[in-house]
Amino acid sequence: MELVKEYPISKRFPELPLLSAANAKKHPDLIPFAFGHPAKESFDISLLSDSAVSALQLDGPRALQYSGGAGPDHVVNWIQQRSKHVSIIVETQNILVTAGSMQAIDLATRTLTDPGDHVWVEAPTFFGAIRQFSLAEVKISSIPMDQNGLMTDELERKLKEAVKDNAPIPKFIYVMPNYHNPTGVCLSIERRKKLAELAYEYNFYILEDDAYVELSFSGEKLPSIYSFGPKRVIYLSTFSKTIAPGIRMGWALADDEVIIQRMKMLKSDGSTSVFVQEIISHFLADVKFEYHMKRINDLYCARKDAMINAVKECFGEEVAFTEPEGGFFLWLSFPKEVNTSEFASAALSRGVSFIESKFFYVDRAETNHIRLSFTFTNEEDIQKGVKRIAESYYQCKKSIEVLNGV
Ligand SMILES: Cc1ncc(COP(=O)(O)O)c(C=O)c1O
Repeated sequence: MELVKEYPISKRFPELPLLSAANAKKHPDLIPFAFGHPAKESFDISLLSDSAVSALQLDGPRALQYSGGAGPDHVVNWIQQRSKHVSIIVETQNILVTAGSMQAIDLATRTLTDPGDHVWVEAPTFFGAIRQFSLAEVKISSIPMDQNGLMTDELERKLKEAVKDNAPIPKFIYVMPNYHNPTGVCLSIERRKKLAELAYEYNFYILEDDAYVELSFSGEKLPSIYSFGPKRVIYLSTFSKTIAPGIRMGWALADDEVIIQRMKMLKSDGSTSVFVQEIISHFLADVKFEYHMKRINDLYCARKDAMINAVKECFGEEVAFTEPEGGFFLWLSFPKEVNTSEFASAALSRGVSFIESKFFYVDRAETNHIRLSFTFTNEEDIQKGVKRIAESYYQCKKSIEVLNGV
């Protein structure tokens, strides 16, 4: 019984890079700009506790039973109504409630692709999505973006080239239209329309991941890509950024019911927790959602301002950024020759974490940016944290200059 042979587990698992921020918890006084977490102040604990009590007392037998179906109607009805804010008209049977939008990305990817198919993403993109695509064994390539989001001219050029060379067209393109992770920018309306047109012309799907849509500091919302081309979009969103990520509840919707049916077939988890859905039903029935979001967005806007002021104070002209009008993230760009991984560990030992840009690029191409999350940390710590990053950066810059004899 002593001799245990090596067991070859599936080769499906790709090499996943370890974020330097993964070591972050080791520092006792860490300021975690790496975490894309909501503020604890954003959780309405009192209403969530009342909702949990109501779910048990009023709907206990249903909430605790196998649902055999899509769970309570109220959540799906709410999603249907709320989707109108981004010009989506959808039937409730075309909405699938999932365990966070992460599960929706997984189900959509496996519904639309076979291993070896091609998927195109924005550069940079959300590393959680890159991981899902890698696990689905698709080939990933990227299209650049600027301050107006995905560069649709470049996309069109690449599509034409693929047709000319008889090369594969992507099965889908993964896009975050609002307050993009990590850059914080929004896709312009013209580009949303163009993207939908290209999807129809070249016959690919768009996976529209709208996780941050509610986090608009002005309250303004643009029409979704879905609204310009419903036949070729799967739209995803989540309660993680508005209610709490711990509830693990998101959704997918598509105009084509077959797509949603197939996603349901792949969703082999019974159903998304009916108990949690019952709690959220009560929460949504009782919360003044606009007021709830205004409170959260005011808090995040103040934190964003504090971060931008600290960056200006500590870095001056050394870094560039597009000021986000919502969402969670500030994306700082250093001069081209800088490799931000070179001061990530130094920053960690000073007690601040961020995510360096290479993790957001499929080909690890750009190394001169960092993603800072402004939502989780209070204004005083934001000031301290940015100062710590600046100290680490300038010290690293000085050592490199000494080495190069500058
Ligand atoms: C763009 C984007 N999509 C999806 C997710 C995952 O969200 P969820 O908690 O709903 O799985 C995140 C979380 O950070 C995200 O940034």
